[in-house]
Amino acid sequence: MGVLVLRLILIYSFFSTLVYCGSSLPGNVTDRFALQAMKAQILQDPHRVLSSWKDSIHFCLWQGVNCSLQHHQRVIRLDLQSQNLVGTISPHIGNLSFLRELHLQNNSFSHQIPLEIGHLRRLQVLRLDNNSLSGSLPVNVSNCLSLINLNVGYNNLVGKISPEISTLSKLQSLVLQANHLTGEIPPSLGNLSSLMILGANDNNLKGSIPSSLGQLRNLTNISLASNTLSGSVPPSIYNLSALIAFSLSQNQIQGSILSDLGNTLPNLQYFHIYGNQFTGSIPMSISNATSLVELNISENKLTGQVPNLQNLVNLELLGMGNNNFKGHIPNDIAKLSRLRRLSLQNNELSGSIPSSLGNLTMLTEVLLQGNNLEGSIPSSLGECQRLLLLNLSQNNLGGPIPQHVIGLPSLSISLDLSRNHFVGPFPLKAGQLKSLGALDISDNMLAGELPTSLGSCLSLEVLHLQGNLFKGPIPSSMISLERIRDLDLSCNNLQGEIPQFLQGFSFLKNLNLSYNEFLGAVPVEGVFNTLSVTSIVGNNRLCDGIAELQLPKCKHSKESKGGGLSHSFILVISISGFLGIAMLLSLIFLHPLRKKISKETEMTSLENSILQLSYSTLLKATDGFSSINLIGVGSFGSVYKGLLLDDDRAQLVAVKVLNLLRRGASKSFIAECEALRNIRHRNLVKILTICSSVDFRGNDFKALVYEFMDNGSLEEWLHPTTPTEGVRDAPKNLNLAQRLDIAIDVACALDYLHNHCGTPIVHCDLKPSNVLLDDRLTGHVSDFGLARFLPKETSNVSSNQISSTGIRGSVGYVAPEYGMGSKVTTYGDVYSFGILLLEMFTGKRPTDHMFSEGLNLHNFVKVAFPEGVTEIADPLLLQGDHTGRRTNDTQKKLKCLCLIFQIGIACSVESPRDRKGISHVASELQSFRDILLR
Ligand SMILES: *[C@@H]1O[C@H](CO)[C@@H](O)[C@H](O)[C@H]1NC(C)=O
Ligand SMILES: *[C@@H]1O[C@H](CO)[C@@H](O)[C@H](O)[C@H]1NC(C)=O
Ligand SMILES: *[C@@H]1O[C@H](CO)[C@@H](O)[C@H](O)[C@H]1NC(C)=O
Ligand SMILES: *[C@@H]1O[C@H](CO)[C@@H](O)[C@H](O)[C@H]1NC(C)=O
Ligand SMILES: *[C@@H]1O[C@H](CO)[C@@H](O)[C@H](O)[C@H]1NC(C)=O
Ligand SMILES: *[C@@H]1O[C@H](CO)[C@@H](O)[C@H](O)[C@H]1NC(C)=O
Repeated sequence: MGVLVLRLILIYSFFSTLVYCGSSLPGNVTDRFALQAMKAQILQDPHRVLSSWKDSIHFCLWQGVNCSLQHHQRVIRLDLQSQNLVGTISPHIGNLSFLRELHLQNNSFSHQIPLEIGHLRRLQVLRLDNNSLSGSLPVNVSNCLSLINLNVGYNNLVGKISPEISTLSKLQSLVLQANHLTGEIPPSLGNLSSLMILGANDNNLKGSIPSSLGQLRNLTNISLASNTLSGSVPPSIYNLSALIAFSLSQNQIQGSILSDLGNTLPNLQYFHIYGNQFTGSIPMSISNATSLVELNISENKLTGQVPNLQNLVNLELLGMGNNNFKGHIPNDIAKLSRLRRLSLQNNELSGSIPSSLGNLTMLTEVLLQGNNLEGSIPSSLGECQRLLLLNLSQNNLGGPIPQHVIGLPSLSISLDLSRNHFVGPFPLKAGQLKSLGALDISDNMLAGELPTSLGSCLSLEVLHLQGNLFKGPIPSSMISLERIRDLDLSCNNLQGEIPQFLQGFSFLKNLNLSYNEFLGAVPVEGVFNTLSVTSIVGNNRLCDGIAELQLPKCKHSKESKGGGLSHSFILVISISGFLGIAMLLSLIFLHPLRKKISKETEMTSLENSILQLSYSTLLKATDGFSSINLIGVGSFGSVYKGLLLDDDRAQLVAVKVLNLLRRGASKSFIAECEALRNIRHRNLVKILTICSSVDFRGNDFKALVYEFMDNGSLEEWLHPTTPTEGVRDAPKNLNLAQRLDIAIDVACALDYLHNHCGTPIVHCDLKPSNVLLDDRLTGHVSDFGLARFLPKETSNVSSNQISSTGIRGSVGYVAPEYGMGSKVTTYGDVYSFGILLLEMFTGKRPTDHMFSEGLNLHNFVKVAFPEGVTEIADPLLLQGDHTGRRTNDTQKKLKCLCLIFQIGIACSVESPRDRKGISHVASELQSFRDILLR
């Protein structure tokens, strides 16, 4: 009996061990069930994040799931952001009762936010922004009393902001922007005493701004823009001394701006109240708001003079347009040395344009139209060499147009000098304004002939010369303006025949030649075929043209009066003659155009689903490819930071502009497009779009637009340059675990490229500057400009091998066999990875001057291994561990470093055959992380 009991106990304990091992770790059934229920509601998972969400793996190891050990493996964080997931949010989420952070932003979740969300009492971060959620924000959310960050922006939520939300006393960030919320802003929001960010812009909120918001002492950002708010701004708001950004633009707010603004809001950087009904003048105190970067008070009913602004040395945008300001533009404006955009249009400003404006060399946009400005254009404006857009129209300006203002090569968006009293000839020299898109000098008193040089304004889409005293013929050089959409030459004294080439301008949508002295036959093809887009009235000596014009027959055909037979004979000849000319024209002009178009469609089909952007959009996004936005110069071009404004969303992007003069750049562009077309992986940089177009100078222009990576490249982190004075960046330093994580990220990306994406891709240019880090320091491999597809194994015969000739890679990282012309293999990337790994953990570049004559990074580590690991490791990694005591932690670190160096050495051996495969490397590195974190 006793034996039996013992046996039973033994069997029982055997089974329980088995069960324990079989399910690998004990887990909470409720959480697993809730996660499974969530998965079931996700209909599309293009990046296959949920592929690890399966029974054979413990749910704490599922991608995006974090558990807490203290709380018996309960889920505390769920992060599925930016995965293009499509589906709905399951009510079972309410069962994840230990959840602290929920990140579902940037997906396509639709339908309602489940009420059960209110069960999550430990929830601190709720990010549902940028989805397609509808219905209202459940009142229940106010039960999530731990919430610090609540963001449901960019959805389709309706209903009111519930006053109960004010019970969330820990809330620091409340973002409701870009929904369809209605009703008033509940005054109880003034009880959210921890609130720092309040974003409710782009909704349909009405009523006035509650004065209780003035109690939010820690508020730094408030945006209520683009609603229908009315009433005046409660004075209490101006006491929010922590405010940095204040935006009420595009509402119906009245009243004056508080006179003490500049003294009560000392930290204010962004003050946007444009598009309201503010009255009164700008308070003098504004001159004390020295932190201001953007001051936009356009489109109100403000009066008075332009105040003293000379202390606002940080100002980059000054928008005062569409108000009733009087007086002069102060000379002191030249003190605003960072000013980029100046808009004073449509006021009642008088006096002359101060010549000191020429000191503002950062200016990109100047709008002064619709005032009473007089005098001439100061020639100093020619110093504003970044100017993209200049509008001085509708003033009383006179005198000649200065040569180097109209010739500013940066002008590329538009130059509008119309409706003034400018005199003299059209001061255009050949080769100027090659990039200008729109030129309007209409309604002045300019005289003389049109310059031949107009033909070199190749980017022109709009040309308005009407209402001047120009005479002579349309210059034949204008044949090259084939991009023109809108051409108005009316009300001048132009003479001669209407040029035939206008028929070939396929983009032309408006052609006005009326009230001139043109004569002869009116063409009949192209734009001349449609009455509604072409006007030729007021030219008394024109003939022929399409029948609807009811013009007389031209003289030469009238003269040849003969029998009926010969008449029709002549008609046939003239028609066939015309056809001949038309054919010739189309051969000459349409042919290259067609070729260009077909080139573009080729590109499009290559990048089928990706939306193409135009040159001018990118020009705008990067502030004219301004050097301020230049973030790097790579092998085939320059990379700029840019802000893409798409409808109402703004997105930071990185724009790589290819230097097409560099040999191979075009090929590199195609290689990169091809490589990025079908591949997607969390550790590869995501391409958003491409631009294959022609710039305003008529040159080919190619650019690639990527997601912007907040933390720059690994290069900058491994080898930080000494910080420039005044820049208070946090010191860049990565600890051992962070470096290991990035190394794993890179290995995973290579593993994907080599082994998991159809045709294997070899990157060929792996190095720290091609590893970019996002806001969470996750590594993303970038720059596929040298990438090569490997032929399929079966067709791997010698004729099909890709030789590495021509591949240069980067000195120090490129595999030695490539130097000897061996074929490209995945083992070449493994070599580069090995070097990268050694560099990451020694802090030494392979090109360090200490490496010469046989000593290289590989040997340097190999010789020291394993006893000298502490000597060769990057000293930053062991900082604080040299206190004499060898703690457990230090031991773990050293062990981990040894293992990493071992892998690095093995990857960077000379013979490709002796290197490991990357998938093997990746999984080993992953196991080191476990050692480090154990
Ligand atoms: C799982 O969580 C539920 C709900 O909080 C709880 O009742 C149950 O005891 C937990 N189970 C385990 C195994 O921790
Ligand atoms: C969540 O878990 C992943 C690994 O599964 C880990 O890399 C990450 O650091 C964890 N995040 C947090 C916030 O604990
Ligand atoms: C989880 O949530 C669902 C839906 O809200 C509910 O029906 C169920 O009873 C909850 N509890 C458990 C343990 O799954
Ligand atoms: C406001 O901010 C200060 C400084 O960051 C902080 O100490 C204080 O607790 C905050 N007040 C509230 C109510 O959160
Ligand atoms: C600007 O600030 C100074 C110092 O605080 C103050 O004396 C002055 O009155 C302020 N100017 C205006 C116009 O408010
Ligand atoms: C503009 O620049 C010139 C030359 O650099 C300088 O002499 C002048 O004082 C500046 N004007 C103003 C208003 O700052």
